[in-house]
Amino acid sequence: MGRSGHACSLLAPLLLLLLSLGSAAAQKGSTWKTLSGDPPAVIAKGGFSGLFPDSSDLAYAFAASYQDSALWCDVRLTKDGVGICLPDIKMDNCTSIANVFPKGQNTYRVNGVSTKAWFSVDYDSIQLSNVSLERSIYSRIQRYDDVFQVIPVEVVLSQYKAPAFWLNVQHDSFYSQFNLSMRSYILSLSKQYTVDYISSPEVSFLKSLLGRVSSKTKLVFRFLDEGIVEPSTNQTYGSILKNLTSIKTFASGILVPKNYIWPVTADNYLKPATSVVDDAHKAGLEVYAADFANDFGLSYNYSYDPVTEYLGFVDGAFSVDGVLTDFPITALEAIGCFTNLNDTKVDHGAPLVISHNGASGDYPDCTDLAYKKAVTDGADVIDCVVQVTKDAIPICMSSIDLKDVSTVVTSQFASQAVVIEDIKPVAGIYTFNLTWEDIANNLKPMISNPWTRYALSRSPRNRNAGNFMKLSDFLTFAKGEDLAGIMITVEHASFMAEKLGFGVVDAVIKALDDSGYSKQTAQKVMIQSTNSSTLVKFKQEAKYNLVYKLDEDVKDAAPSAVAAIKQFADAVSVSTMSVYPATSNFLINQTNPLVKTLQSAGLPVYVHLLMNEFLSQPWDFFSDATTQINAFVQKGGGGVDGVITDFPGTAHRYKLNSCKNMGNKTPYYMLPPQRGGLLETIDKAAQPAAMAPQKDLASAEVVEAALPPVSSTTAPASSHATSRIRTDVSFLATLLMLCAYLLI
Ligand SMILES: *[C@@H]1O[C@H](CO)[C@@H](O)[C@H](O)[C@H]1NC(C)=O
Ligand SMILES: *[C@@H]1O[C@H](CO)[C@@H](O)[C@H](O)[C@H]1NC(C)=O
Ligand SMILES: *[C@@H]1O[C@H](CO)[C@@H](O)[C@H](O)[C@H]1NC(C)=O
Ligand SMILES: *[C@@H]1O[C@H](CO)[C@@H](O)[C@H](O)[C@H]1NC(C)=O
Ligand SMILES: *[C@@H]1O[C@H](CO)[C@@H](O)[C@H](O)[C@H]1NC(C)=O
Ligand SMILES: *[C@@H]1O[C@H](CO)[C@@H](O)[C@H](O)[C@H]1NC(C)=O
Ligand SMILES: *[C@@H]1O[C@H](CO)[C@@H](O)[C@H](O)[C@H]1NC(C)=O
Ligand SMILES: *[C@@H]1O[C@H](CO)[C@@H](O)[C@H](O)[C@H]1NC(C)=O
Ligand SMILES: *[C@@H]1O[C@H](CO)[C@@H](O)[C@H](O)[C@H]1NC(C)=O
Ligand SMILES: *[C@@H]1O[C@H](CO)[C@@H](O)[C@H](O)[C@H]1NC(C)=O
Repeated sequence: MGRSGHACSLLAPLLLLLLSLGSAAAQKGSTWKTLSGDPPAVIAKGGFSGLFPDSSDLAYAFAASYQDSALWCDVRLTKDGVGICLPDIKMDNCTSIANVFPKGQNTYRVNGVSTKAWFSVDYDSIQLSNVSLERSIYSRIQRYDDVFQVIPVEVVLSQYKAPAFWLNVQHDSFYSQFNLSMRSYILSLSKQYTVDYISSPEVSFLKSLLGRVSSKTKLVFRFLDEGIVEPSTNQTYGSILKNLTSIKTFASGILVPKNYIWPVTADNYLKPATSVVDDAHKAGLEVYAADFANDFGLSYNYSYDPVTEYLGFVDGAFSVDGVLTDFPITALEAIGCFTNLNDTKVDHGAPLVISHNGASGDYPDCTDLAYKKAVTDGADVIDCVVQVTKDAIPICMSSIDLKDVSTVVTSQFASQAVVIEDIKPVAGIYTFNLTWEDIANNLKPMISNPWTRYALSRSPRNRNAGNFMKLSDFLTFAKGEDLAGIMITVEHASFMAEKLGFGVVDAVIKALDDSGYSKQTAQKVMIQSTNSSTLVKFKQEAKYNLVYKLDEDVKDAAPSAVAAIKQFADAVSVSTMSVYPATSNFLINQTNPLVKTLQSAGLPVYVHLLMNEFLSQPWDFFSDATTQINAFVQKGGGGVDGVITDFPGTAHRYKLNSCKNMGNKTPYYMLPPQRGGLLETIDKAAQPAAMAPQKDLASAEVVEAALPPVSSTTAPASSHATSRIRTDVSFLATLLMLCAYLLI
């Protein structure tokens, strides 16, 4: 049934690089708090099932290419007694069976629970050769559905190289109803192949294997949810957990859902850790934790950073003996490069970690809490996007439209929505129409939520936390912290000059002078703008580090454009797509010269905007923000000088990792991705459309008309201006909806 030949040819481009490097085990001299003292094991559930369909050839081949991960197979039996690997007893949840045998559904009792589904016991292995694997989690890649066939357990045990093989037998009593003996099957298998682990949630099944499998095979008792009843003892798993010494009589370890160790509240925040790991270790049992994935099931405490989660299981007061995961690379990297880090935070060297609206992944943009968190998370530079209030006070606010960043729509100012075409075509409630008092006393900040459309929200408990800040408050705060510098972003300068009579450049310079930044030498003052005319004006008036932000995705910059940028900028921030172009979230095989071109001209390059949420990342980064940062920063990858991020903590920890500067000894899981490698694993028919070619930046796009003078009257409005500013309350609701839609 297998098609591993197929999988291997698909994988060839991706594996070439990996295999030539040889194994690179964790480089630690430190001792681990595992039972054996060895590093925790990484067990790839159904292969690299976060990327490819669980239990598919490609999933196993890819996980096996990370030579340090054990391969896991969920064993099921067919009508003719053949063992196959499938993640779910319900075949309709992981295969195409419902299409192949539309009438093949049946209702059986599974551990006492009546269950309606397609079951492997109703089909023989010949029939199943027409059935293909599909993802069970819809946010994952669809393009691999219906490409790979169901494979026998023997194929996994014989065709892949791995440090260990783990067979999970989720059901034994179920199969005995059909006169199929899981026990005989497993015993015969373990005579022919090396099986390192056998796990089961059934006590009687494990007991029946005792003494009959090789002494090297570890028997592991798998715990299900605490309220579920174990079929052979009729006790709940919760009550079995209370007697670990009894488990030791038939098993050498336990496998528990991760929430047995780090329980979570109903709203998905971590509670304190339980003593399960220590208790089990005291009873002489190894502890394996299950349910790790980068793209779901992360508590808000981890800020969408799966490495943080692993570290909580292996790098604290205790360590589990292994983790069962859909994304083995992230577990390997956490264990191999991110444990025992010395976070003394003295190093503000490259890559520069620049916050984006503070730690806006955790707190509302540009609030005191977002900035404090950015500093404690180790940002090198914190940033303020300057807006202005009606009473001409410069403030830090990520959007000029308060609807984006505050509770204004439910406030008394909701009726002040206007369309200002110079800014955007739909109605906004603008900072310059409210006084600082209005804003500070009546509005609450609102956390940014770029991925709510996909049901991913940032910490709900922090939804409206913190206080807005004036630019002067921000400067006072920043000046007292250990930072490499601050970055002040200025947009809409010409609108402010012409329509509001507000000279934002002068106001920023004055605020910097007033707060002592002109004398402050330890911190660099960076000024960022997408509009060169703003930077030109700053350059004329003061001596700051000027950062030109390129909003558009480009492949390279023409020599004349570089020369033009050199006239007014000291650094450039570029988009992620300009560094790693991608189509349908797959990196394409194209290396853009942009970063090198700018760096060769003496311009450091920062990349915007990195986020931890997996939806923001191309598949090639494995839904792992650390892998993404690594790809952008490594010399053989993006090679940028800094990252602009909503989650400075993840980027700062990256800087501390112990796998840097290892040359050709760099572990393969810390190599930058091979551009286009993943795309090549997709069948021709399922390939996404080619990306529209990116162009080179031209000097005409860089050069702008000079900033207009600040209009002397701040009174609203020549007749021309009024015609463009339209108060609109009646269809506000419609506009709000449209606006919310456009923003995500
Ligand atoms: C597999 O599908 C093909 C095409 O639908 C069909 O001709 C063949 O009989 C099927 N094989 C089995 C074993 O069901
Ligand atoms: C299908 O499998 C996924 C992943 O294991 C699981 O979350 C989901 O609940 C399953 N769906 C059904 C209908 O069993
Ligand atoms: C299992 O075997 C028993 C005894 O041979 C027989 O009575 C029973 O019908 C069989 N059950 C199934 C589902 O084949
Ligand atoms: C399991 O417990 C239930 C309820 O306590 C009881 O009805 C049932 O007979 C028990 N089954 C076994 C096999 O002990
Ligand atoms: C735990 O299990 C052991 C071995 O099965 C048994 O001797 C002991 O009495 C049990 N302890 C408790 C508290 O149930
Ligand atoms: C998780 O976050 C919540 C909310 O910030 C906090 O109360 C809790 O202590 C955190 N849990 C752990 C284990 O740190
Ligand atoms: C951490 O680094 C600091 C500064 O380099 C050093 O003084 C300190 O001893 C280190 N701590 C450990 C535990 O290695
Ligand atoms: C908002 O500010 C603009 C520019 O000063 C002004 O023209 C407009 O009338 C103001 N709108 C409201 C509702 O205050
Ligand atoms: C990427 O493209 C280059 C040049 O077109 C080619 O030489 C190289 O083999 C390609 N790499 C992959 C992985 O396809
Ligand atoms: C940049 O600012 C100038 C005024 O200095 C203005 O004319 C121009 O439209 C602005 N460019 C963009 C792209 O907003």
